[in-house]
Amino acid sequence: MIVIKNLNKNYGHHVVLNHLSVELHKAEIVAILGSSGSGKSTFLRCINRLEEPTAGQVWIDGVEVTHSNVQQLRTKVGMVFQNFHLFSNMSVIQNLVYAPQKVKKMPESQAFEKAQQLLRQVGLEKKIKAYPHTLSGGEKQRIAIARTLMMDPEVILFDEPTSALDPEMVQEVLRVIKGLASTGITILIVTHEMNFVREVATRVLFLDHGSILEDQSTKDFFDGHNKERIAQFLNQATSD
Ligand SMILES: Nc1ncnc2c1ncn2[C@@H]1O[C@H](COP(=O)(O)OP(=O)(O)OP(=O)(O)O)[C@@H](O)[C@H]1O
Ligand SMILES: [Mg+2]
Repeated sequence: MIVIKNLNKNYGHHVVLNHLSVELHKAEIVAILGSSGSGKSTFLRCINRLEEPTAGQVWIDGVEVTHSNVQQLRTKVGMVFQNFHLFSNMSVIQNLVYAPQKVKKMPESQAFEKAQQLLRQVGLEKKIKAYPHTLSGGEKQRIAIARTLMMDPEVILFDEPTSALDPEMVQEVLRVIKGLASTGITILIVTHEMNFVREVATRVLFLDHGSILEDQSTKDFFDGHNKERIAQFLNQATSD
């Protein structure tokens, strides 16, 4: 459902994504691993066009993403960031109903009902009137996930969703993401949580200098005889 062909991204002379091609299928849970600076965030940002690729194509459901259909793309592909990106001047419920009403023209009553249901799903129905500054990091991130789900995305891109959280809040967020696996949503997730990757991801892409060094099922990735570069990464990641 997502086809990426020869994706390139340069910043000046710096090649950040280098002829990256991959096909991702519906309902896959794809962990994107790689060391700092390998291009993981840039890869996600090029998929939903927060960055304009230097060259190459992204196809979603058979349609090539271009400058002119990017809004349509955004209704299918949601993104959750490390730092939540909630609208700080809006309450939780306003954060949730804003985009569906504006972009999808969802009637107010339907938007409110859906928001309540999603707040229940992430365990935060009591926070419906709260403002973001009164929430913990874990709560903010669960609200951000609920907000993304309001649009009924086919794909959610998570860029280190738990990296800004205190350790005790990491699991509550991972639990919510785990709950999305097997619902048919396709998930791409950049994360350092290796236990989560082992348990939940179906596939691992390992990026190195802007290219895919390895593309394997999760089982093969962790059990197999990996390239030295990856063995090194895993040693480091599991000793952190
Ligand atoms: N807007 C930008 N302008 C110039 N260089 C950039 C820009 N964004 C990213 N880069 C560079 O591109 C490279 C890849 O960055 P990217 O953020 O995609 O890496 P990453 O794998 O997500 O790293 P991290 O694990 O630290 O988040 C880095 O060398 C970074 O400095
Ligand atoms: Mg990053």
